[in-house]
Amino acid sequence: MFSLKDKVTVVTGGGSGIGQAIAHCFSDAGAIVHVLDLNPEGGAAVAGEIRAAGGRATFVDCDVSQESSCDAAAQRVLSENGGHCDVLVNNAGIGHVGTIMTTTGADLDRLYAVNVKGVLYMTRALLPAMLERRWGSVVNMASIGGIVGIRDRLAYTATKFAVVGITKSSALDYAETKVRFNCICPGRVETPWVQARLREYPDPKKAYEEMAATQAQRRMGRPEEIAAATLYLAVDESAFVTGSALIIDGGLSAGK
Ligand SMILES: NC(=O)c1ccc[n+]([C@@H]2O[C@H](COP(=O)([O-])OP(=O)(O)OC[C@H]3O[C@@H](n4cnc5c(N)ncnc54)[C@H](O)[C@@H]3O)[C@@H](O)[C@H]2O)c1
Repeated sequence: MFSLKDKVTVVTGGGSGIGQAIAHCFSDAGAIVHVLDLNPEGGAAVAGEIRAAGGRATFVDCDVSQESSCDAAAQRVLSENGGHCDVLVNNAGIGHVGTIMTTTGADLDRLYAVNVKGVLYMTRALLPAMLERRWGSVVNMASIGGIVGIRDRLAYTATKFAVVGITKSSALDYAETKVRFNCICPGRVETPWVQARLREYPDPKKAYEEMAATQAQRRMGRPEEIAAATLYLAVDESAFVTGSALIIDGGLSAGK
């Protein structure tokens, strides 16, 4: 129902998991998709899958933690699309396990560089093009760990609370333009990231059940469920939505 016909879109971390599902969903809605990723194999594979299905997609090599890399990627997107970019999804992110006693300054710097500075650099590189056309949607992938604390995830939650803050402040700064800023706060979603974590446990099946049970619905989310919400925030039907942190967590944060 929602259309992104001929819209120029950018999805960071589009080479895996949630970003991959968003790239496919945007293409199915008619968008021109740019898959930005640090991992050339994953990114190129997703762009290839979309083209094979009849869509328009390009892989662009980008490390969002490096300002020069974001600027170069944005330049490429803009130069190949008449200076236009309509939708930016800042989805690339990394995790870390640790408490206040086991998280080092270097751990925090590493997560901050990708999860927070990545949002800043990529948005700064593409926002002027959106402002010029007076239309745009920026969707940041935060986490339920940007709304409530998570045990043993100090650095991760610190960065995701920051993503929610960036989203809300930017929504206010640009509220009178037609460029909107929103973020999504997923609970646990079954992606290669989560699958890799599960393989670290002695009994991955038991670990899966325990992870699933942290959601009130006692299941993990699917990447496609996050992609559908991202599409909603990208299109004009959500024009009155800005500064929101959309929780999609199977009831995890609803209460005990
Ligand atoms: N999976 C979950 O349970 C979950 C829950 C809440 C929020 N999130 C958030 O969703 C986003 C995607 O998570 P996912 O589970 O799909 O992860 P994933 O690991 O499956 O995919 C992440 C992608 O980002 C890319 N990436 C990592 N660092 C990058 C960098 N510096 N520059 C460019 N690309 C980079 C990776 O190569 C990978 O393709 C993250 O921001 C994550 O914090 C995930």
